[in-house]
Amino acid sequence: MSENILKKKIPSEKEAEELLKEAEKLNPGLWTAHCKTAGTCAKKIAERCNELDENKAYVMGLLHDIGRREGILDMKHIICGYRFMESKGYVDISRICLTHSFPYKDIRAYNGENDCTEKETQFIEKYLEETEYDDYDRLIQLCDALSFPDGPTFLEKRLVDVAMRRGFNDLTVDKWKAFFKLKEYFDEKARQDIYKLINLK
Ligand SMILES: [Fe+2]
Repeated sequence: MSENILKKKIPSEKEAEELLKEAEKLNPGLWTAHCKTAGTCAKKIAERCNELDENKAYVMGLLHDIGRREGILDMKHIICGYRFMESKGYVDISRICLTHSFPYKDIRAYNGENDCTEKETQFIEKYLEETEYDDYDRLIQLCDALSFPDGPTFLEKRLVDVAMRRGFNDLTVDKWKAFFKLKEYFDEKARQDIYKLINLK
């Protein structure tokens, strides 16, 4: 068991699965299947990267969108997830709830509505400014973009899917470039094309 699970900064795999099940009841939707795909992808990639703990990666993938338990939300889901995980003392997950949407550190690059209050928006901006991403932040940002509810997919497909559903702006291409950089980063770390690693052909 990883050191962090022992310190209770993150829940066990079983507890994370239960939290997601409970969330599914509160706000049913395809988002929970997307989270399961993200958890599985994160685990597979982490297994190939020496410094990453695969159980921790799995739990982070499962819970990155947990804020959606509170209803149909746009950007606010990251704040709701952050608060919910923090209330349980799982600070490593609250961090992921907040960082997973920003491979490109500019709040205006978010795909969708900013339904946060002014105060919440300022909090997110300050948090991103003060946080230096680690490999878990990067891994979940990448896996979020590789995960359809029915399984893993190519970045190219998922990014186009998101743009078609939620629109795009003048920062979208820079954000896409950030995703492709993440893929290159983990291809190198895993010493393998991660598309193969997650069984894409
Ligand atoms: Fe997600």
